[in-house]
Amino acid sequence: MLDTHALHKLFHAGSPDERVAIDGVSLQLQPGDFAVVVGGNGAGKSTLLNMVAGEVTPDAGRIRIGDEDVTPLATHQRARLISRVFQDPSIGTAAALSIEENLAVADRRGARRGFARALTPALALEFRDRLATFGLGLENRMGAQAGLLSGGQRQALSLLMAVLRAPRLLLLDEHTAALDPKTAETVMRVTRQVVQEARLTTLMVTHNMHHAISHGNRLIMMKQGRIVADLRGERKQTMTVERLIAAFDDESTELTHAQP
Ligand SMILES: Nc1ncnc2c1ncn2[C@@H]1O[C@H](COP(=O)(O)OP(=O)(O)O)[C@@H](O)[C@H]1O
Ligand SMILES: [Mg+2]
Repeated sequence: MLDTHALHKLFHAGSPDERVAIDGVSLQLQPGDFAVVVGGNGAGKSTLLNMVAGEVTPDAGRIRIGDEDVTPLATHQRARLISRVFQDPSIGTAAALSIEENLAVADRRGARRGFARALTPALALEFRDRLATFGLGLENRMGAQAGLLSGGQRQALSLLMAVLRAPRLLLLDEHTAALDPKTAETVMRVTRQVVQEARLTTLMVTHNMHHAISHGNRLIMMKQGRIVADLRGERKQTMTVERLIAAFDDESTELTHAQP
């Protein structure tokens, strides 16, 4: 579903500020893969997601989504394939619009010109029903402005908006990092739910090691612009928070030498 081949990115090349952000990343996600990406600050996690989304142009390498080479496509040209949720809850939703209006906008966003659904009572009911499954009471506040919601409620709404049109790829860049621990758990529960329901192919960055080991089917560690580990199956399931934290700065661990 996602195939990145030999991606490279140097920021400020040739200047004293030169930074290697991505140093040869080849990553393949199968349909339905839920890959969690961890790594220290500056490891290149956001740059990788931004490249996939088209915000950052690679110096070298190719990106395919499904059977389409999206490398030359601008962000808006690949938007129909990709949905994203960011760390800041205010980015995914329009504060001045109601919950229902936000959902209607998201619903239209994915539609080809002329194929947008009108906000009929039936569609409004569909939005309500889907929000109700989150167990946050949002279905009773369809007319409330998104700006009045808590951070966690806004992220839950952002998630539903992101998956309404079943994107080929869902990108989550630390989307629980700005939330208190209990709210972060709630948003992860909602995340798991929407990803499983639509069997979405997902790339999620987190600094929460507990979330990293307990969600997804793959655990990817990045260091200095490279993928240094990609754990699946039993190796993912048996990973512990302690060993994962140890792997952050220990070059010699079994984990960091484990290529797929
Ligand atoms: N727009 C940019 N301009 C210059 N340098 C950048 C930019 N984005 C990221 N970098 C640099 O690239 C490296 C990787 O950053 P980033 O992908 O944001 O890491 P992470 O998300 O893992 O913390 C860092 O050294 C960072 O300073
Ligand atoms: Mg980042």
